[in-house]
Amino acid sequence: MRILVTGGAGYIGSHTCVLLLEAGYEIAVLDNLDNSCEESLKRVKEITGKDFNFYKVDLLDYDDVNEVFNKEKFDAVIHFAGLKAVGESCAIPLRYYHNNITGTLNLCDIMAKHGCKKLVFSSSATVYGDPHTVPIKEDFPLSATNPCGQTKLMIEYILKDLYKSDNEWDIAILRYFNPVGAHKSGKIGEDPNGIPNNLIPYVSQVAVGKLECLSVFGNDYNTKDGTGVRDYIHVVDLANGHLKALEKIATKSGVVVYNLGTGTGYSVLDMVKAFEKASGKTVKYKIAPRRPGDIAECYADPTKAREELGFIATHTLDDMCKDTWRWQEDNPNGYK
Ligand code: WQD
Repeated sequence: MRILVTGGAGYIGSHTCVLLLEAGYEIAVLDNLDNSCEESLKRVKEITGKDFNFYKVDLLDYDDVNEVFNKEKFDAVIHFAGLKAVGESCAIPLRYYHNNITGTLNLCDIMAKHGCKKLVFSSSATVYGDPHTVPIKEDFPLSATNPCGQTKLMIEYILKDLYKSDNEWDIAILRYFNPVGAHKSGKIGEDPNGIPNNLIPYVSQVAVGKLECLSVFGNDYNTKDGTGVRDYIHVVDLANGHLKALEKIATKSGVVVYNLGTGTGYSVLDMVKAFEKASGKTVKYKIAPRRPGDIAECYADPTKAREELGFIATHTLDDMCKDTWRWQEDNPNGYK
């Protein structure tokens, strides 16, 4: 089977490309490199010893995307490409709506024209907004508290309407919790632009001395130690979830939705402690005011993915921290 991976040069995309190639899939990558480096794809080739085509194309360029489908026949698409910084999305919402929504509309239109109607979509736990309780199940109410989350939610509705209009489509919507970690080789990993928004890349840069001190955004939440609790999932487990979803939509499945999480929540201070243990470094931190839009607790009920996909996250918290640290130490400036 031949799979097109949009956003395949990115953090989760590149890890998924490794597993796809190792599982015997043929792939091609489409990425505009807006928020990623082609170096990551060179490293994917190094890790797997396999080759594939890379198309530096923006999903907003309809004709360029169509040309890719003229060149290669794809059995399915895994769609990672999109802007995903929550804070930035509040500052430039129109860019986020245009990029994420129009890009996806172009992709689906071109897929249909070329008879490719199997899609795995990269959604997010942010579509649950501030859940009334945890752990979170797939049938919980959906809402978004920022433009980034809104685009994920809107695309989910678009894909469900697309299926209603044409039931030849098979679509898996994957709601990620908090991806962390890196491939065990240390050759690929998370390479945020500028100052990291997310916790673990920030902690990792403090540990390596690139940043001075972590601000812990609030310690007065109604959680075990007052700091925010999240469901951190190793990026390799997350990548594996995409292969399980591909298997699911290989046969008639319609639209299926799954949480990809571990089912275990860890607090910010848990993560700091775990990272210090894994890296042998001290992570300096201070308590700071809450970050607007943050919620207290967010972790998955992973039952549905386990029962229907046979998906189970196997990497431990120590794996997540050790693998992050190896990537950070070997690549202090990311791919640059
Ligand atoms: C985790 C915890 C913070 C940074 C993510 C992103 C985004 C989304 C998935 C797409 C929270 C605390 C963080 C820091 C801190 N993807 N924190 N100091 O908030 O769960 O959201 O969800 O939609 O990737 O929005 O992840 O890593 O930003 O924060 O104390 O410098 O760490 O308050 O409790 P989050 P995060």
